[in-house]
Amino acid sequence: MLLEGLSKLEYRGYDSAGIAVRDGEKDVRVVKARGRLSVLEEKTDGGRTVPGNCGIGHTRWATHGEPSENNAHPHVSEDSSVVAVHNGIIENYQELKEKLLRNGYTFYSDTDTEVAVKLIDYYYKKYKVGPIDAIAKCMVRMRGSYALAVMFRDYPGEIYAARKESPMILGLGDGENFIASDVPAILKHTRRVIYVGNLEMARITPEKAEIIDLNGDVIEKEVTEITWDAEAAEKGGFEHFMMKEIYEEPRAIEDTLHSAIKEGTIDISGTGLTEEEMKSFSSVWIVGCGSAYHVGMVAQYVLEDLAKIPVRVELASEFRYRQPLLAKDALVVIISQSGETADSLAALREAKRQGVKVLGIVNVVGSAIAREADYVFYTLAGPEIAVATTKAYSAQLIGCDLLAVALGRARGVLEEEKIKELLSDLLSLPGKVERIIEDKERIQWFANKFANINDVFFLGRGLDYAACMEGSLKMKEISYIHSEAYAAGELKHGTISLVEKGTMIIGVATQKRIFEKTISNMVEVKTRGAYLCGITSAGNYSMEDTADFVLYVPKSDEHFSATLTVIPLQLLAYYVAVNRGIDVDKPRNLAKSVTVE
Ligand code: F6R
Repeated sequence: MLLEGLSKLEYRGYDSAGIAVRDGEKDVRVVKARGRLSVLEEKTDGGRTVPGNCGIGHTRWATHGEPSENNAHPHVSEDSSVVAVHNGIIENYQELKEKLLRNGYTFYSDTDTEVAVKLIDYYYKKYKVGPIDAIAKCMVRMRGSYALAVMFRDYPGEIYAARKESPMILGLGDGENFIASDVPAILKHTRRVIYVGNLEMARITPEKAEIIDLNGDVIEKEVTEITWDAEAAEKGGFEHFMMKEIYEEPRAIEDTLHSAIKEGTIDISGTGLTEEEMKSFSSVWIVGCGSAYHVGMVAQYVLEDLAKIPVRVELASEFRYRQPLLAKDALVVIISQSGETADSLAALREAKRQGVKVLGIVNVVGSAIAREADYVFYTLAGPEIAVATTKAYSAQLIGCDLLAVALGRARGVLEEEKIKELLSDLLSLPGKVERIIEDKERIQWFANKFANINDVFFLGRGLDYAACMEGSLKMKEISYIHSEAYAAGELKHGTISLVEKGTMIIGVATQKRIFEKTISNMVEVKTRGAYLCGITSAGNYSMEDTADFVLYVPKSDEHFSATLTVIPLQLLAYYVAVNRGIDVDKPRNLAKSVTVE
């Protein structure tokens, strides 16, 4: 049952897996394995070697600690009184770990989950107040996000749960009950589901399933009847993974921000970079492929402006073969979601061959680029399934913004006051992205109207141009419409000859200093018959005088505008592709991870 349920959740992560099973009052047995779920299935002979009637299981996407058997869940307290699985990130796990170390606890893994398990064990034994009170005490202490399922040795046949931010549901069966992080895991057994709310706990036995608040009181919850089929359920009710992942962008941004903003200030020491090292770099090279390269294009503007350091951006496939002249004290930044892209990995090796330090901005923990880089900044976007990247791109942008602020501080070019302002603006981005997504119907309407066009041009200057490059790639790769991104001032040096009556032009203009300039370029194409869609920040209403259709994004510090403008561009590409009947998640000829040249 556990293995089968986990197989339905494998899309959420699959670098290791484990189960903990109890047979009546007997002690719990834990089996874990690195790799896909099939390895665990083999190890347990399809579950037959660990019989029982109560258990928890987990398939992992590493966030703290490399993918290994040791770091795989479930995690157990020293005497196995408490055993648990966990999704999410405990942001203050270091501080909690230190507290536990002072109280004689030791740790066998690098995970934040082991800290959570031992914290529950600590309160459970110290106050002798039972599972619910022990968990509630932990919830008060833990910051971050979690969906926890916990078994206690003294309570056979019972599973306890706690939730903050990370999704969690209860499934109501007949003589059996379930806890899961998503509906597909239990759909074979029941369609009756209770959604566990934020900061709520749960207790299940075969006969009973209760939701409990932080005061320990049982609360009444509505039971939902699931009517979707299993495949739709894996996508959380969304038609495509791409849309699901667009919806996950605020979370990806927030988690990535919180990994480096601690107690109101920036701290990227987790990457391994020291203040001294950051001070010593003379220049930065950013290298990546496709969307990761486009992140570099945005980052170039942000880093040069905030950290006052010269930046060059290179395509990994070019960089690896042209023997770039790297200064010994340069920093090479390799950006990669998968951490396995062949050209990016080769670029990393070329930089190291020249004796230059490399920082990887990577999403997949333990991937080749993460292993070989000197320093690693992990983006916390979670697994990305759709071939066209969305949430990983956004998390990579945030990684670069944070690097810019950290370098700016280390190099003494950003005052504390300015840093505070920038961080506060960064922290407001998840809410702003959410607002753009909520307003998606207008974009859908527009996309449906123009789904049959043959060409589209994206125009912008500076940071807006960099965002256009990503918008253009999204459009062409999933809708198969020819599209190009142009620096707005460059169009009249040739490409404008392609503009004719009805050509679609998408102009992005968020930066005050060059707003009028971009508008002038938009007027130039309009007078030649183009249809103009403008994307700008709230307040720039004069855009309506020029464009035929305007989309507004909330105002933000201009350095971070690409995080906002890319959202309507992603949505536009998505809706055009859906309208054209294309397999949005798996467009033709592409692969999610390009491990060949
Ligand atoms: C486009 C896209 C690709 C990737 C590129 C690099 O939507 O997803 O362009 O950005 O293949 O992949 P990673 O980031 O895994 O190195």
